[in-house]
Amino acid sequence: MCGIVGYVGKRPATELLINGLHRLEYRGYDSAGLAFFTASGAIRVIKQAGKVALLEKKLIETTDATERENAHLGIAHTRWATHGLPTEENAHPHTACSGEIALVHNGIIENYASIRKQMESHGCVFSSQTDTEALAHLIGAYYKGDLLAAVSQALKKVEGTYGIAVISVHHPDQIVVARKGSPLVIGVGENETIVASDVSAIVSHTRQVIYLQDGDIALVTLAGPQIFTLDNATVHRPVATIEWEIGAAEKGGFEHFMLKEIFEQPMALQNAIRGRLDMALGTAILSGLNMTPRELATVQRLIIVACGTSLHAGMVGKYLFEALATLPTDPEQAAEFRYCNPILGPNELVVAISQSGETADTLAAVRESIQKGALVAGLCNVVGSTIAREAGRGVYLHAGPEIGVASTKAFTAQVTVLLMLALKLGRCRRLSREDGLWLCQEITAIPSMIEKVLAQSHAIEVIASKYASVSNAFFIGRGILYPTALEGALKLKEISYIHAEGYQAAELKHGPIALLDEHFPVIALLNDLPGKEKTLGNVQECRARKAPVIGIVTEGDHEAEEVCNDVIRIPRTSQYTAPVITAVALQLFAYYVARARGCEIDQPRNLAKSVTVE
Ligand code: G6P
Repeated sequence: MCGIVGYVGKRPATELLINGLHRLEYRGYDSAGLAFFTASGAIRVIKQAGKVALLEKKLIETTDATERENAHLGIAHTRWATHGLPTEENAHPHTACSGEIALVHNGIIENYASIRKQMESHGCVFSSQTDTEALAHLIGAYYKGDLLAAVSQALKKVEGTYGIAVISVHHPDQIVVARKGSPLVIGVGENETIVASDVSAIVSHTRQVIYLQDGDIALVTLAGPQIFTLDNATVHRPVATIEWEIGAAEKGGFEHFMLKEIFEQPMALQNAIRGRLDMALGTAILSGLNMTPRELATVQRLIIVACGTSLHAGMVGKYLFEALATLPTDPEQAAEFRYCNPILGPNELVVAISQSGETADTLAAVRESIQKGALVAGLCNVVGSTIAREAGRGVYLHAGPEIGVASTKAFTAQVTVLLMLALKLGRCRRLSREDGLWLCQEITAIPSMIEKVLAQSHAIEVIASKYASVSNAFFIGRGILYPTALEGALKLKEISYIHAEGYQAAELKHGPIALLDEHFPVIALLNDLPGKEKTLGNVQECRARKAPVIGIVTEGDHEAEEVCNDVIRIPRTSQYTAPVITAVALQLFAYYVARARGCEIDQPRNLAKSVTVE
């Protein structure tokens, strides 16, 4: 989704801004722009529809090297269109007061229409359809010589969400930043400060960062930030150190981030598991939950809130919690949950799953659950993210930064962490020590099982290229593999743009089967687990309608192989780890189909990595 970078220091700002925008490209965007000070003290704005590379080209073509060398402060943005088409006019920065103020903004100003009307009645002329431009004019209207004060006043009138960075010709050494609902991080370097919506744009410059919190506004200079509330009270926010290496956010020889992230799953899951299994008591050690076995034993129901891939992980979680911990579990799409006045109480544990920890709907569901007096735990990958902080307790995935828009290693880490949580909750109930120990071993074996699937990548690539030209596909699975089928279908549609749907294997004949013919493949999850025989029957029904069937089968299972047109072999697993191992095969399948179709795999059209708007 939209990205923000700002720089003030002694180095040429435009180069840093463009590099920062490149680092944020993975979030998904459709136009970009930047603003910086010229030698004459004016603000120069350059914007471009399309990729950051085009913006960079335009910057070089329309400015000279000295101008770029001498600009030491600037702001930049990648825009993911919400209000108005992804055109140059609608790209950020937006300006007000004849170019004296420039602003970049993530989020949505919900009352922009009334602000716009008010500003137009005062003679302001708008040049875009965006909600953001209304805020730029509002700040301009409040400006009386103090930029921080003007931004604070304007923000008090705003309904909606924002992460913003603002500059003014009258303050060539300042950037004013603020956040409510959209993340903003301040990197504190030596004689330079970098602000960004995401640490990936900061980590190559400094590891010392300050996460702004909702309601914070900061005056940023090269000496660092001063942070206040909108009512001008000073606020202290701690400096955190980013632990991961910059290399973790680079491709490391792989053609795409997605492929790199698929292949690093053994290591990512090793990190997710490390130190979390108690091989003596046969349970999991999840200290971030901050709950004693006695407190965990009082939980009577689990509600999982999440979106997208994280929701699919939560749906797998339902099977795990119900089977291992005998806890009724309801996975809920976070946006639906927050608006349905959920029935919650002190004996309910709400588990919010979010790779980014910033998804607007999931965050709102967390806030609603806290309001209603439920216990809330966050399962996030991004350390220090808003959901992780607001939930107050939880389990980090430790899967490392995920850059590819299509989530891969986060899904398998989420399911693995859910399995450890189910083990922990189970051991506080009816799960025996022996069963707990057996599960610990199953979990420990996950990374090496994934290695075995990755070793099949060439075979999967061959099958994928055979089906790369289809227009539709179904994924079918049963029981705990049903959400895995949903995830397989989501991966395929996200990156290859093939229409793909996941179904419970038995549901196909209640309607969807009408669509099948020889051009409509079915990917069947035929793992040798209870229920396989029934799914084999469903496969026969598909074959009888001439649909080609690609089976994900347990190695050595000839019975399953025989009914399929093509097979992808995966190692034998228990039902509890099957979703993780199977998902890896489906990720590779989607990846190779998309590559054969020449798709833009890491930044699929219309998608964003982190959806910070409702
Ligand atoms: C977006 C991404 C998905 C992701 C979903 C939830 O739609 O494109 O890949 O699964 O958001 O994101 P979260 O960060 O909350 O897991």
